[in-house]
Amino acid sequence: MRLAVFVLASALSAFALDNGLMKTPPMGWLAWERFRCDIDCENDPKNCISENLFIDMADRLSEDGWRELGYVYVNIDDCWSSMKRDKDGRLQADPKRFPGGIHKLARYMHDRGLKLGIYGDMGTHTCGGYPGTPLDKIELDAQTFADWEVDMFKYDGCYSNATEQEKGYPLMAKALNATGRPIGYSCSWPAYQGGLPPKVNYTQLGEICNLWRNYGDIQDSWDSVLNIADWFFENQDVLVPAAGPGRWNDPDMLAPLDAEEQRLYSELLPGD
Ligand SMILES: *[C@@H]1O[C@H](CO)[C@@H](O)[C@H](O)[C@H]1NC(C)=O
Ligand SMILES: *[C@@H]1O[C@H](CO)[C@@H](O)[C@H](O)[C@H]1NC(C)=O
Ligand SMILES: *[C@@H]1O[C@H](CO)[C@@H](O)[C@H](O)[C@H]1NC(C)=O
Repeated sequence: MRLAVFVLASALSAFALDNGLMKTPPMGWLAWERFRCDIDCENDPKNCISENLFIDMADRLSEDGWRELGYVYVNIDDCWSSMKRDKDGRLQADPKRFPGGIHKLARYMHDRGLKLGIYGDMGTHTCGGYPGTPLDKIELDAQTFADWEVDMFKYDGCYSNATEQEKGYPLMAKALNATGRPIGYSCSWPAYQGGLPPKVNYTQLGEICNLWRNYGDIQDSWDSVLNIADWFFENQDVLVPAAGPGRWNDPDMLAPLDAEEQRLYSELLPGD
């Protein structure tokens, strides 16, 4: 049994994205499910997408014992950026809601043993209508995130088509690698292509992404949780072998639970 586990693990890691990250499933906090695209900081200062929200979460993770359990990622989702790129064409944070900028926020995380994740989109615009990272902006934006010392990047797929995604997701993997900074790479690609073969190639995903969103967003309801759990259950024969060190299925906010199940599955399989 032990030998079998070892052989399986090394076979998997040979095909995983080679950035040394996420040998175990990433754990942390992401803003979207609860805070959405609330940008009304005047009327809703506690809940709006602003640096204060992420600083607040960082304090909770580091002061309330979560960090010690492994919850180290604090991840920004959509609606963080300014509607306009800067004079050099770079993405920039909304100046009112993130007056300190993303680099300073990343330092805040690092000072507390945490990591910062950020969000972009393969299309012309993000799902929320902010500037996207289409094919011709991939290298520039990857470098910007590396310059800001960001630790993880979620690449969404709104306003892009299958042809662009086929080019863009691997290109971003190369661009992130070329920055020289290890940046965990989360691909929403399969969620835009139905989540299953033949449209989705999980072998390829494992080579270019550390994790991938397979299926729809989780909504704030138990029905939504059940719906996602059912889909993963029904398709487990495809999904379980896709996962391993450095390469994980991501059922959205169920990630910690599902990842633990995946770990158990991958340990149990060789002995079956
Ligand atoms: C880039 O890719 C090479 C080859 O796969 C790997 O050895 C290296 O660690 C990667 N670097 C980063 C920063 O991801
Ligand atoms: C996808 O989008 C690109 C660029 O916007 C366009 O040139 C191409 O025709 C589109 N492809 C399909 C299959 O819709
Ligand atoms: C899936 O991707 C792998 C690795 O990139 C490739 O070798 C294989 O041919 C692809 N499979 C299909 C059906 O396209």
